[in-house]
Amino acid sequence: MSNGAVHPEPHGHVYGHYAAPKWPDAHCSGKEQYDAMYKESLAAPEKFWGRIAEKFYWKKKWEAPFHSYNFDSRKAPVNVQWFIGAETNLAYNCLDRNVEAGQGDRVAFYWEGNDLGEDSTTTYSQLLAQVCQIANYLKSAGVGRGDDVTIYMPMIPELPAAMLACARIGAVHSVVFAGFSAESLSGRILDSKPRVVLTCSAVKRGAKPISLKGIVDDALVKVTAGGHEVDTVLVYDHTRAATRADVAFTPGRDVWWQDAVSEQPTTCEVEWMGAEDPLFKLYTSGSTGKPKGVEHTLGGYMVGTATTFKYVFDHHLSDVYWCTADCGWITGHSYVAYGPLLNAATQVLFEGVPTHPDAGRAWDIVDKYKVSLLYTAPTAIRSLQSFGPEWVKKYSRASLRILGSVGEPINPEAWLWYHDVVGGGRCPIVDTWWQTETGAHMITPLPGATTLVPGSATLPFFGVEPAVLSEKGEELQGECEGYLVIKRAWPSGMRTLSGDHARFEATYFNLYPGYYFTGDGCRRDKDGYYWLIGRVDDVINVSGHRIGTAEVEGALTQHDRCAEAAVVPMEHPIKGQGIYAFVTLMQGTEYPPPPALKKELVATVREVIGPIATPDVIHWAPGLPKTRSGKIMRRILRKIASKEEDSLGDTSTLADPSVIQTLLALRGK
Ligand code: PRX
Repeated sequence: MSNGAVHPEPHGHVYGHYAAPKWPDAHCSGKEQYDAMYKESLAAPEKFWGRIAEKFYWKKKWEAPFHSYNFDSRKAPVNVQWFIGAETNLAYNCLDRNVEAGQGDRVAFYWEGNDLGEDSTTTYSQLLAQVCQIANYLKSAGVGRGDDVTIYMPMIPELPAAMLACARIGAVHSVVFAGFSAESLSGRILDSKPRVVLTCSAVKRGAKPISLKGIVDDALVKVTAGGHEVDTVLVYDHTRAATRADVAFTPGRDVWWQDAVSEQPTTCEVEWMGAEDPLFKLYTSGSTGKPKGVEHTLGGYMVGTATTFKYVFDHHLSDVYWCTADCGWITGHSYVAYGPLLNAATQVLFEGVPTHPDAGRAWDIVDKYKVSLLYTAPTAIRSLQSFGPEWVKKYSRASLRILGSVGEPINPEAWLWYHDVVGGGRCPIVDTWWQTETGAHMITPLPGATTLVPGSATLPFFGVEPAVLSEKGEELQGECEGYLVIKRAWPSGMRTLSGDHARFEATYFNLYPGYYFTGDGCRRDKDGYYWLIGRVDDVINVSGHRIGTAEVEGALTQHDRCAEAAVVPMEHPIKGQGIYAFVTLMQGTEYPPPPALKKELVATVREVIGPIATPDVIHWAPGLPKTRSGKIMRRILRKIASKEEDSLGDTSTLADPSVIQTLLALRGK
């Protein structure tokens, strides 16, 4: 597909342009159509989004003006609202609407279990019945409109079904990724205070069994100590080898899912909710403090996720879609649970890891289900690439049509491998830039319309108006590099942070009034293409997952030998970024201490946050480079972590410049 034109890539390499394929039936076919639709979406947003929103079911239509936005927190509180006054229901639009339109027998989920040979199929009618049963159970447990429900489950169909069950009765779900520790889970439960928690007895990730119920039990001990009680824990029996008797049960609180839910009626009245009522909370890491509960509401989120899904994956009913993300992250919310179902898509839900039992598993799944749209993360691509092309070439992959990437910048080498080896040079790659906060794709190619350049997320989606600011907040024009911001509201954006609107404004709007601050650095080239460079705040992107440096530092200092810690990102060949921790031990410790201490510190972080936050390097630091006012100079630590000590820059403001030599002497010790 390369048309031979060349384009300078930011790191100095030169890669080709890849023209969009000529697909006359693409939802957006050609650059002219993209330009026209983009222009209209900015010039006449009411008309543009109104026309799209008409396709959904609204119990009550919106009143004019149907959206409002102000991103200048100095003028008035930032209070974004779309489809004001309208009433709808997400579960109804995902399920009942599709069943009524004759899609009842269509497959919603092909579930593929962790181990080979475990699979199941759920049609739209079956999913509707399943969702109604869970919804009825939740109601019987006292859950109603506006109540929070925490979900801590693996990727089985019951997970998205539980999310939809909450949506059906107007409850607010908070899905916690089932790789988080008891401590992280308890923090999220204490923040949203649900009465009901949904979980699963155990799960196998690769060859390793993990007792999720045990983690929930530990978390709930901490929750009780924190002053909140959970009344009901609904436990899906997924133990396989073990029997129910092996699972610790608290009588009166714990309930077996299969017993309680199967008794419920398979129909359930829909709660009609306001377009701006909350749909879910999802906790994500920021620069400071504990994870923030990002809150999304119904109407705009529905329209935004469905529309991006349709255009970015050029979804047609003949497609089979597979997103490898877990529902514990925003990608699993927007592009497993909601966007695809709103489009009556057929999708694969995979519980396992793509390298189990071997490195051909992902391609085996592609062939088994004839996957045409594949959506994954650069970290997975690099990991599969490292096993060699033979694993891919063993499988046909003839069904693949479009490949998607999300979560972190995709390096051009991984892009080219994805394109040439996985897609056999036939499939456009949609490199989708977005965030938990944005709810849906923001900067992304459209497969039938956008000329691709490896490593660039290309152009904004409809209704998204990006800008690039200098550090001083001046809007840069043309070719430039700076902070990526968004100039106006779009339908699917977050509305607030759970219980803390002031923090919402402080984090995203106060720094550059009038703009939504993304926290990402970017470059815009002469064609107006955006190149995402990475976070400009203290957030590390490990395998596409956000980890706050402050969180890891806080976890390390929970070890009683750790006096202080400073964490910075490091380049990592598979994970994109890794975690590099400088650790100062308690007074009187000899450096380097016995090697076992590193293992203990790593174990502490895994216990406090979860395995995703495992530090890659612990570097002993008898002293940290600090200014005279005591501020850690992370710029210097980043240079040391990346072995660039030759270019440390200005160190004259250090309180004690000798700490640098000491640090360098302890590298690798
Ligand atoms: O730094 C950007 C990076 O991931 C961050 C958002 O992380 P999270 O809220 O966990 O959502 C991940 C899935 C949407 C962004 O601030 N990021 C995400 N997608 C890309 C990306 N960086 C570069 N290119 C992308 N396609």
